[in-house]
Amino acid sequence: MSSTAGLVIPCKAAVAWEAGKPLVIQQVEVAPPQTMEVRIKVKYTSLCHTDLYFWEAKGQTPLFPRIFGHEAAGIVESVGEGVTDLQIGDHVLPVFTGECGDCKHCKSEESNMCNLLRINTDRGVMLNDGKSRFSINGTPINHFVGTSTFSEYTVIHSGCLAKINPLAPMDKVCILSCGISTGLGATLNVAKPKRGSSIAIFGLGAVGLAAAEGARIAGASRIIGIDRSPKRFKEAEKFGITEFVNSEDHDRPIQEVIAEMTNGGVDRSVECTGNIDCMIAAFECVHDGWGVAVLVGVPSKDAVFMTKPINMLNERTLKGTFFGNYKPRTDLPSVVDMYMNKELELDKFITHRLPFSEINKAFDYMLKGEGLRCIISMEE
Ligand SMILES: NC(=O)c1ccc[n+]([C@@H]2O[C@H](COP(=O)([O-])OP(=O)(O)OC[C@H]3O[C@@H](n4cnc5c(N)ncnc54)[C@H](O)[C@@H]3O)[C@@H](O)[C@H]2O)c1
Ligand SMILES: [Zn+2]
Ligand SMILES: [Zn+2]
Repeated sequence: MSSTAGLVIPCKAAVAWEAGKPLVIQQVEVAPPQTMEVRIKVKYTSLCHTDLYFWEAKGQTPLFPRIFGHEAAGIVESVGEGVTDLQIGDHVLPVFTGECGDCKHCKSEESNMCNLLRINTDRGVMLNDGKSRFSINGTPINHFVGTSTFSEYTVIHSGCLAKINPLAPMDKVCILSCGISTGLGATLNVAKPKRGSSIAIFGLGAVGLAAAEGARIAGASRIIGIDRSPKRFKEAEKFGITEFVNSEDHDRPIQEVIAEMTNGGVDRSVECTGNIDCMIAAFECVHDGWGVAVLVGVPSKDAVFMTKPINMLNERTLKGTFFGNYKPRTDLPSVVDMYMNKELELDKFITHRLPFSEINKAFDYMLKGEGLRCIISMEE
């Protein structure tokens, strides 16, 4: 038993009180974990676009006050009733989507879209009792995607925690909690490029560059990176991309440019922009006969995908992926081991570091499109 098990823990958290306003670091009370829940001490967290979108709350249901954060690494402080696969002291990665192990998705080898613990951005409470574990002077503070890692302690459903190698440096592997695994898995688990093949990556943000890292690991020989922001090409140089295409430099559809460059089309493509035209281009630029396109980006809710059915009849395949098709608890530990075995490079994604007290600066970097990932240390 840890000395704090069963007790309310007062600690610091970065609370978002209003959309788009700086987070306020203040004391919150964190209740003990209930049935199937785990309380963790967050060691490192990073900021991902999804935090930013919901903090800005432009177009999404605003839910405040709220504690954001979903890319992180931490240590189990205490466990609730019924938790048997995690113990005090275990090193874990929280994940915004979960794996209950019992539903038909969890039982299917092909799906990671757990019925019980699938991402829910509108819910600000825990499933067990429909209440929050965070409060300030009795006022409940909403959770975010079941993780809320911008807090020194947080309570998470045990199905949303992957137990990892305790030797893995948490200030690095924390970025595997969301964006990097998504892009990596989109290539390795879904696009599956063959050694020596060609692949086009649309969008060179952290997710697209993680898809490129997957292509490097798979041994693709031509990795074509497409973006409209030249600023992105500088950063992308470290990622094994062999050719850059600025979509703004061309006055014809980019799929035609790629098809011409590759004598008929690429073997695989991965779309990581969220832009509907890029999604269509990503599909139409793959080679007929065998090409596979994978959509990762989240489009605006009214976007419609239009292409001529003949493009499919000509034996091209269109796929989509959620969290790179990784099952969080089953698969993430081995992604951490890929890093430990030096197969996967993570350091190149980490462009900034900040102490928790300066977390608002991480929002500024992201708003300005500066860098890829900023690691926030909870203990500095
Ligand atoms: N499917 C999933 O499970 C999942 C998980 C995480 C993120 N995502 C989505 O992945 C996408 C990428 O995330 P990110 O964090 O890397 O974002 P990001 O904003 O850092 O990167 C997107 C890149 O796409 C480029 N881009 C946008 N529109 C373009 C266009 N029309 N033409 C050319 N380039 C264009 C931008 O310049 C930018 O460099 C987002 O849509 C995000 O919501 C999906
Ligand atoms: Zn499930
Ligand atoms: Zn994320």
